[in-house]
Amino acid sequence: MSGPPGFVDPVMTWKNAHGTEIERVPDNTIYMGVVQGLPVTPFCEKPQIEALQKQFVARQGDTWIVTYLKSGTTVTQDIVKFFVGKTVDDNPLMASPWLEVSARVPMISVPIEIANTIPAFEGRRFWKSHWLPRDHLAKNGKSKFIYVARNGLDVCVSFFHHIKGFPMYEYNGDLNDFFEKFMDDGKSLDFGSWWQHVGEWWKRRKDDDVLFLFYEDMLDDPKGSIRKMADFVGYDASDARIEDIVKATSFAEMKKRPIFYDLIRSKDATPFLRKGVAGDGQNTLSDDQVRRFEAKCRAYFVGELADYPWQ
Ligand code: A3P
Repeated sequence: MSGPPGFVDPVMTWKNAHGTEIERVPDNTIYMGVVQGLPVTPFCEKPQIEALQKQFVARQGDTWIVTYLKSGTTVTQDIVKFFVGKTVDDNPLMASPWLEVSARVPMISVPIEIANTIPAFEGRRFWKSHWLPRDHLAKNGKSKFIYVARNGLDVCVSFFHHIKGFPMYEYNGDLNDFFEKFMDDGKSLDFGSWWQHVGEWWKRRKDDDVLFLFYEDMLDDPKGSIRKMADFVGYDASDARIEDIVKATSFAEMKKRPIFYDLIRSKDATPFLRKGVAGDGQNTLSDDQVRRFEAKCRAYFVGELADYPWQ
């Protein structure tokens, strides 16, 4: 662990306290939970998910940032914190709590009864989620969704480093082994199949309550992407204000600020903000792996999505 002296890792403390009670993906070389049939990050526990489904009181003005892991969630959280009155040094994770995480893991999540009391700022609140749309926890007709998709090859490589760096997962495999897990429809990975995740949200992309963005477009045109987010949630910002947010949320600027996840990563792990580029997967994986990934995209996705931007 890389925390300061005396730092108690809330995730490992949670895990040790929990033992092996959680339902896990069987015969998996990664320590992975299962809730309602979906493989989940192990600290996304059933009681929290059920509380979210049954007790969470949605309000008009709630927006969920939804992604498959490693697709630009944290930078999106860092952007929207400015829409709820936070400033550059405020913690992005708490400005849009990940309510699927057990509230017993503080610093990331909050109990649902506390979430229900979090006041809106100018009518807006934000939450983070990795859930699929068909049974999303915020099925309430009041919430909106910002969905961010990223090239699956880049997601795969970033995800590999992510899992290797968190001791909780207990994963000793190499990138080739991980690639096979990714290709196997994520049966043993947090939140399942990348294809299913992106494909299901893509079908919702034209709905009024969904803003579908690509991570690659956020890199190419951060100003345009942030403007779309602001307009979507009714944040009335001048061009100068948007420029300020672009600058504050660039990879280089975000790197200067501490991010909680690095405190609970292994000492030798890659930093949570690792490279922040497009194309890393293509450069890292073998030609054969890239071909197999592309063939699966063509078989799974139809039309526009099959060609963009992972072909
Ligand atoms: P890499 O591992 O490819 O570098 P998530 O927040 O969904 O877990 O996504 C993490 C990925 O987003 C990591 O990708 C990380 O470096 C990248 N990222 C984080 N902040 C970023 C920023 N400000 N700009 C671009 N990419 C960023």
